[in-house]
Amino acid sequence: MAARSGPVPRPGILDIAPYVPGTSALPGAAPVVKLSSNETPLGPSPAAIEAYRAEATHLSRYPDGSARPLREALAALHGIDAGRIVCGAGSDELLNLLAAAYLGPGDEAIYTAHGFLVYKIAILARGATPVVAPETNHTADVDAILERVTPATRMVFIANPNNPTGTYLPAGEIIRLHAGLPDDVLLVLDAAYAEYVRSRDYESGIALAGAHGNVVMTRTFSKIYGLASLRIGWAYCPDAVADTLNRIRGPFNVTGPSIAAAVAALKDRPHMEKAVAHNEAFLGPVAEQLARIGLETTPSVGNFLLVHFPETPGRTAQEADAFLHERRIILRRVTEYGFPNALRMTIGTDVENHATIEALTAFMDAA
Ligand SMILES: Cc1ncc(COP(=O)(O)O)c(C=O)c1O
Repeated sequence: MAARSGPVPRPGILDIAPYVPGTSALPGAAPVVKLSSNETPLGPSPAAIEAYRAEATHLSRYPDGSARPLREALAALHGIDAGRIVCGAGSDELLNLLAAAYLGPGDEAIYTAHGFLVYKIAILARGATPVVAPETNHTADVDAILERVTPATRMVFIANPNNPTGTYLPAGEIIRLHAGLPDDVLLVLDAAYAEYVRSRDYESGIALAGAHGNVVMTRTFSKIYGLASLRIGWAYCPDAVADTLNRIRGPFNVTGPSIAAAVAALKDRPHMEKAVAHNEAFLGPVAEQLARIGLETTPSVGNFLLVHFPETPGRTAQEADAFLHERRIILRRVTEYGFPNALRMTIGTDVENHATIEALTAFMDAA
């Protein structure tokens, strides 16, 4: 048989730059302050850890294939229809399933200039064309998005609030965006940080997804619920979209321990509220302290801050990153998000925030 060079991926797949997660470890055994992945400093609810442990006694059994206990708990909490909820291995899986279902070669999908990078990967993986809408003040711009809609547009992805900027669109702007989209364009509202938002004019997307056939909202247990390692998220969809996702997802795409832990986490409202209060207590003060040492931040409603560094040699984000690593503090480089001279800092514990500000103060003083 003639020699062949091995299996070849579909056109375009090898042009995709793999997603590079934030640094999570440094050489050496000493502990690190890790504020690079927007994880909650409070950890999960003790009840969630207990539920996870309890699952260990029946790991040989397949989980409920539709994650029914979790869908029912979510439906009860939010007053929505469990039949329209689809759970996934993190919201990442759901974003990719949506792209798999609705995009193919020749189709276009829009996201914004500093939008979450998983959208671009999901779009390219389906052979579709990513269309990038510019932002205004590091915030999604509804007019810029609508101007880029063509007959080939199939999807629009918006993280609200967005990572890594922390900015958001108020409900009125999301409604205006939806009103400007054709009925056959799917609007995906990624609300990974919804629980943190205190602004009164914010709506996560539940209302819109509940009322229209072309809006999906995605949420995650990775952030405020502290279950990032379990990979569990959910989407609230129109009936037809839920039916579509259920046809293509893995039959047991969510694990039993993840379902059990997420149900328990959801029920522990005091723990969730503690995480919200913690963030509220530190987000503003950390931004103010950074401003005092000459570091500007983008106004954020999430659990993280985009910290901008001066262009001056000795004071750049790259140099700050190295300086922080020497002190065993890890923030997130965001060059691939279009911010080569910024770092993203997750709000940590009081001690972690303090250590980071102290180190950045020394960095700015030393330069
Ligand atoms: C905006 C946004 N959407 C989705 C995700 C993915 O979360 P998950 O852990 O549920 O896959 C993240 C995680 O960083 C995020 O920032």
